[in-house]
Amino acid sequence: MKKKKNRVLVIHGPNLHLLGKREKHIYGTFTLERINSELKEKAANLGLSLEIVQSNSEGDIVDRITRSTYDFLIINPAAYTHTSVAIRDAICGVNIPAIEVHLSNIYKREQFRAKSLISDVAIGVITGLGSVGYILALEAASEILKKPSKKT
Ligand code: DQA
Repeated sequence: MKKKKNRVLVIHGPNLHLLGKREKHIYGTFTLERINSELKEKAANLGLSLEIVQSNSEGDIVDRITRSTYDFLIINPAAYTHTSVAIRDAICGVNIPAIEVHLSNIYKREQFRAKSLISDVAIGVITGLGSVGYILALEAASEILKKPSKKT
């Protein structure tokens, strides 16, 4: 029998550990701990196994993505969204479906944020919905993992 695919990895990129203190007018007052605890509750309800990582380091994020011990990736690459060929290549290299999440709407901010190096290698993007975006990404992951395997 085929092994059930239910392992979701959530990666929070640089400076997201500052949520709750950081630019509240943009990112709101939710702390990362609160987002993570909501994610854990949701994952348990959906029967998903969840690992959550926050890193400020591009290399660490590449290392974690390419360890491939998961079936679905939800990633907020934060500032690396706009600069990191390495994270983009890592996502392409593992061939595991990924959703890109942003708390703020990157299209409503400075122009440099409107360019993502990740979006076209993700199966989808959720931007501007605050912490709800992560929950929606988890719901999408659950639905997509139920389908016979296909990257997109
Ligand atoms: C962000 C948007 C990025 O432009 C920014 O560098 C972040 C957070 C977001 O979640 O809205 O750090 O990814």
